[in-house]
Amino acid sequence: LHQSLVAAIDPAAASAIPFAVVTRDNWEEVAARIGAPATAFARAQGFDGKAGTSVVLPSPEGGVAAVLAGHPEGGDPFSPAKGVTSLPAGLYRLEPGSADPSATLLGLLLGLYAFTRYKGKSEARDIRFVVPDGVDGGEVGRQADAVAFARDLVNTPANDLGPAELEAAARAWAARMRASFNSIVGDDLLAQNFPLIHAVGRASSRPPRLIDITWGETFRPKVTLVGKGVCFDTGGLNIKPDAGMLLMKKDMAGAATALAAAQMIIEAKLPVRLRVLIPAVENAISGSAFRPGDVIPSRKGLSVEIGNTDAEGRLVLADALALADEEEPDLLLDFATLTGAARVALGPDLPPAYTDDEDLAAALVATGQSVNDPVWRMPLWKRYESMLDSKVADINHISGGSYAGSVTAALFLRRFVERAKSWAHFDIFGWTPVARPGRPEGGEPQTARLVLSLVRQRYGASA
Ligand code: BES
Ligand code: MN
Ligand code: MN
Repeated sequence: LHQSLVAAIDPAAASAIPFAVVTRDNWEEVAARIGAPATAFARAQGFDGKAGTSVVLPSPEGGVAAVLAGHPEGGDPFSPAKGVTSLPAGLYRLEPGSADPSATLLGLLLGLYAFTRYKGKSEARDIRFVVPDGVDGGEVGRQADAVAFARDLVNTPANDLGPAELEAAARAWAARMRASFNSIVGDDLLAQNFPLIHAVGRASSRPPRLIDITWGETFRPKVTLVGKGVCFDTGGLNIKPDAGMLLMKKDMAGAATALAAAQMIIEAKLPVRLRVLIPAVENAISGSAFRPGDVIPSRKGLSVEIGNTDAEGRLVLADALALADEEEPDLLLDFATLTGAARVALGPDLPPAYTDDEDLAAALVATGQSVNDPVWRMPLWKRYESMLDSKVADINHISGGSYAGSVTAALFLRRFVERAKSWAHFDIFGWTPVARPGRPEGGEPQTARLVLSLVRQRYGASA
């Protein structure tokens, strides 16, 4: 399942092909360095150091003399990665320049990712990079690999990644991470009081489960990551129309994001006690499906009226968050492809982040920006809380109206978090609909690298 991008980092710099990140500011200087004929060749192809333009310069022997990749000042730090997969095979080294070499290398590695599981023969070229001076190649490679792992999970279709297969992948992952693993499957969810996870998953012939992974010394700060693991979302009895269902293999992107973030935290050996909780279900349709109008108990004790079976994500998260909350974690974060409304508000590239913790909110926005994994704060708007009132139960899980869908989903989740010292919810898209540099079309663990950076800032050892 898992494609290594670390292999694309090569320590042997000697014969490497120069790869120059060109800004409008350093273009004249680069032009002087490569000489007049090469500069004329580049100019003839319209290259002027602008974003998204690049040019491969030939050597007299018919090889590649150098690559110039345009990058705008203050633009997407991954923009030099545009077109990286169509570079000629070879070993490249980043020329010293004004751009952030660590971000450039990460973008290049992330841009090399391809989902090849179902392709007969690989068309991938052997493209490698020398680690530039001052860049921690191990760290960059580990981050790229964690992202690739998550992308593979999201890109794998639901016929090959149901709840059991997601559990198997998480179990194998936990073994690699030397983390402890537990899962509660099928009717045991009822016996152990996870009625909402069971209700959402019970219609599928592939039983629901709650995956629970822990790593790190128990006396460390407790960081818990909860990821929505809906392996396929038909909408249930409130069935989705064709266009809405087409991409729903990605409805476990929250789970993949939690695993990717956890992998980066573990491999960076950050001094925390980490826990990953994944409610893994398939929101399917059968005679045993839960229904609109049903009232279902929850782990927390609140009775929940089902307004729409397509709002399944918040239900499985509610029980998982309630469990997470029981041990009063220092930091509780959840990741979920929760609402279409989040995309209406902010589009596919900028996930909303929700928290009541002002310091955390500021840190999330700043950190996301600095590691090119951005979020935008949205409000847990108190006066919308009444939209979740139910006439028959303690709470309705959706709002009756059609406004503020991402906000009301977040407000619903908040009802299940009381004791955690700090909680944030990310309503991610989990998918890149149109390829961008460093972000091939397909699954994307949005906010995973942000979380690594946040946890490192908060709890990382100074030594
Ligand atoms: N998984 C979907 C939300 C989603 C859809 C995320 C498309 C990303 C892309 C979620 O389970 C869902 O169906 N939400 C409903 C909630 C509604 C019924 C209140 C939605 O957003 O339409
Ligand atoms: Mn749904
Ligand atoms: Mn869903």
